[in-house]
Amino acid sequence: MDRAVVVVAAGSGTRLGIGTAKAFVPVAGSLMLERALAPLFTLPSPALVVVVAPATHLDECRALVASVAGAAVAYTAVVPGGADRHASVEAGLAVLPDSVTAVLVHDAARCLTPAAQFGRVFDAVLAGAGAGFVPALPVTDTIKRVDGDVVVETVDRAALVGVQTPQGFPLAALRQAYAASSRSETDDAGVFQAAGGTVRFVAGDADAFKITTPWDLGRAESIVRARSA
Ligand code: CTP
Ligand code: MG
Repeated sequence: MDRAVVVVAAGSGTRLGIGTAKAFVPVAGSLMLERALAPLFTLPSPALVVVVAPATHLDECRALVASVAGAAVAYTAVVPGGADRHASVEAGLAVLPDSVTAVLVHDAARCLTPAAQFGRVFDAVLAGAGAGFVPALPVTDTIKRVDGDVVVETVDRAALVGVQTPQGFPLAALRQAYAASSRSETDDAGVFQAAGGTVRFVAGDADAFKITTPWDLGRAESIVRARSA
């Protein structure tokens, strides 16, 4: 299989503040990780799926992956995560076979990301001549540069986007970028770019927002309920 998705789900969810690892928190009746994984098994071209889970939740995670994957469970793996997202991504990349050419890295916390977004990023990487790709949306707020409490200027928002996951790359180049990384980058595209890679963007989707705070969880639950109403 030439495609793989690494789903990072090993965070603790400090800002959500529920006291359970975030990926294992229910979102309108189904666990966040279950919702994040479901679209991966509906893609037109199958992909290997590696879930990076908290060391405390490996058995629970394996059972959940098996229930979502069904017959595709043979193409899945669950591995323990690290102290930060960077270490968790590296743990996921480490278990992929070298036959994988396009790898997507995805936050379990973006659990309502539609299947089409994974398809767009895979297609872009496979046709992308070595570049990395991020899903992006235009910035809608007016953005100001500040200095202390002084507003210095309005930043031209036409030159800005907000980026999401999954972020996609050629596997060998992403592995090399992570091996060389200083850990100061906040996303995979930043790691890839710091190593000299080119990153382009494709269309993102509002539903691919990240659940970080209790407000975000409420928003996700409202969206799910509105869909089934
Ligand atoms: N993540 C991970 N391993 C870590 C930290 C984060 O796999 N050591 C994953 C999270 O599970 C999440 C994604 O990276 O899917 C984005 O991280 P974030 O939203 O910050 O989640 P948490 O780190 O769990 O939340 P917080 O920062 O509030 O503790
Ligand atoms: Mg975090």
